Amino acid sequence: MSKISIIGAGNVGASLCEQLALSSLCKEISLVDIYENVAIAKAEDISHLCCALGLECEIKASKDYEIIKNSQIVVVTAGSPRKEGQSRDDLLLINAKITSQIAQNIAKFAPNSIIIQVSNPLDAMVFVALKHSGFEREKVLGMAGILDEARMKYQIQKLVGFKDIKTLVLGGHGDDMVALSRFCTIDDKPLEEYLTHEQIEKIINNTKHGGAEIVKNLGTSAYYAPAAGVFKMIKAILGNTHESMECAVYLDGEYGYKSVVSGVPIVLGKNGAEKIIELELNNEEKKQFEKSVNSVYELIKVLKKNNY
Ligand SMILES: NC(=O)c1ccc[n+]([C@@H]2O[C@H](COP(=O)([O-])OP(=O)(O)OC[C@H]3O[C@@H](n4cnc5c(N)ncnc54)[C@H](O)[C@@H]3O)[C@@H](O)[C@H]2O)c1
Repeated sequence: MSKISIIGAGNVGASLCEQLALSSLCKEISLVDIYENVAIAKAEDISHLCCALGLECEIKASKDYEIIKNSQIVVVTAGSPRKEGQSRDDLLLINAKITSQIAQNIAKFAPNSIIIQVSNPLDAMVFVALKHSGFEREKVLGMAGILDEARMKYQIQKLVGFKDIKTLVLGGHGDDMVALSRFCTIDDKPLEEYLTHEQIEKIINNTKHGGAEIVKNLGTSAYYAPAAGVFKMIKAILGNTHESMECAVYLDGEYGYKSVVSGVPIVLGKNGAEKIIELELNNEEKKQFEKSVNSVYELIKVLKKNNY
């Protein structure tokens, strides 16, 4: 039966642990955090939840990486979250140090696992995790597009109600994310059949700033929906479903880019990214994607200069 480990028992890590325990998707969850007492307390609390609901899931917690042995998937949520007024990029070097150490520990204790990176700045942290774990690129993925698409879907849903809404967001998980309205549908029809051009523009803008709005009101970044984004990826990997979803991956020529990480549609299965899907983008979409990729290249330059 499946074992999942989560590094960082903070808001996203603990929410994910709870969602996994409630789902009965795995039988064992390990939580690692530098604040061991906090991780132990959360593991106990969620174990009590399981007992209350009659669910069987063993949850362990420690500051030591021994407990991640034999994990199929290791989710990395450790790091500093965004504070008000702080961009995801401000977190770059703080979280690069944390991520590189964690990636080395994952390679040592769970060498056959798939890494799902969550800490920001997301695309740059996937790059660090890939380099410092030494894993193949198929096994180091980042979660962001699923969250951004959920935020876009919510904006549309507020206007049209509960319909079959499909959204698509590519590129980096930052202010340059590329919300592709041309690929979005409401009950399989183009957005334009339900919404005006101005409404679509507003939806795209609100999608980009949905995270910052939560940070402003909450004082920290979102966690229920980010955890759900990871949950969706875990479900596809453990179930070997071959579903396609937007995830951050290292590009090696796809979309015309190399040596960079960006959010693109991938097919997910038991071995991680089974395929990278290349969509036919028009010139305007290519331009937006290029801008987004270029901002990740800039972060990678800083990382390389600092030996990450
Ligand atoms: N990709 C996304 O869409 C997305 C969404 C939300 C949050 N995030 C990012 O996820 C990260 C976590 O967010 P959060 O709200 O859970 O933060 P949080 O502060 O609640 O939790 C982070 C946890 O990491 C732990 N930690 C720090 N350094 C560690 C280390 N070296 N080893 C082990 N544990 C360590 C902390 O003790 C803390 O418990 C942040 O970087 C945040 O920006 C990403």
